[in-house]
Amino acid sequence: MDLKQADIDHGLRAIQQAVTTTDLETQRLHWMGKQGLITQAFKTIGRLSVEEKPAVAKQLNEFKSQIIDVLAKQKELVKKIELQKAIDDKIDVTLEPRLLTQGHHHPIHQVIKKLNYFFAQRGFESRSDYNLEIEDEWHNFELLNIPAHHPARSMQDTFYCGEKILRTHVSAAQPRILKNSKLPLSAVVFGRVFRCDTPDATHTPVFHQMECLRIDRHCNFGHLKTIIEDFITFLFGEKLPIRYRASYFPFTEPSVEIDVWMPEKKAWLEILGAGMVHPNVIKNAGHDPSVYRGFAFGVGIERLAMLYFDLDDVRELYNSDLSLLGDCYLWQ
Ligand code: DAH
Repeated sequence: MDLKQADIDHGLRAIQQAVTTTDLETQRLHWMGKQGLITQAFKTIGRLSVEEKPAVAKQLNEFKSQIIDVLAKQKELVKKIELQKAIDDKIDVTLEPRLLTQGHHHPIHQVIKKLNYFFAQRGFESRSDYNLEIEDEWHNFELLNIPAHHPARSMQDTFYCGEKILRTHVSAAQPRILKNSKLPLSAVVFGRVFRCDTPDATHTPVFHQMECLRIDRHCNFGHLKTIIEDFITFLFGEKLPIRYRASYFPFTEPSVEIDVWMPEKKAWLEILGAGMVHPNVIKNAGHDPSVYRGFAFGVGIERLAMLYFDLDDVRELYNSDLSLLGDCYLWQ
């Protein structure tokens, strides 16, 4: 055997200088490959005498383990060196971070969620169990003191389907809740309503409303004003100018409509109808209107969303234009 410790030491230093996987593989083959120096040296043992064999074999095994040991250590080092090189080559740490886009709810749903939160805190129960889209005229009109000759009942406004109708307002939930609840009660109902309207910038045949109903012994118009002004301030995060206009709804007396000032457009936008619940509505549900009184209001959710997100056309909410809807984010 020609191998000496000096050759091995020299070889170990060469291995330690390998900085790429290819260099290291060349070194490995040089020593441990089929034609490698260690492999070949082992083959010469067969030609030695019985006395010489043990010492030479012992020496060779020692050389072999030195080489294997250093090859393994260098392999780990080369791995680290190459990883660092890949990072340096490919990752430009000066690049602007890519913004993560996170989805959010549709603006209409966001408004509903925020209102739900507000009214829950004020003790109003969300009565989605009375959110019936297919109604009958009895609940949608009759029990709400809307007589048969009222224009709202004409074919032009209402979608009729056989005996049933698609509700024209969420106020239809009022008689159902009233009939089935112990008084006093505070409730809100969210849902879709349907009207035979031709779509334009402010109308769609299907839209969303929130109906709010409170019945108690000592309920007055001041309570109604307070809760309306508070929820508008909560929703918009600031006190917006509000205008009350005397109005008429068969199911409230007195009745008002409420407009909110839109600073950007310099115009008033009607957002809700409200009033003190008409005694007939309380009576129709089997309660005594001389004991109980209440207030109610119905808000257009799309109107609130348009106001909040400064939209010109209600149809923008339904066009699934993600570049627009993506910007409509209500919760800060
Ligand atoms: N239901 C009415 C509508 O859809 C809105 C409304 C007006 C609801 C007055 C009310 C109310 O509760 O008191 O136009």
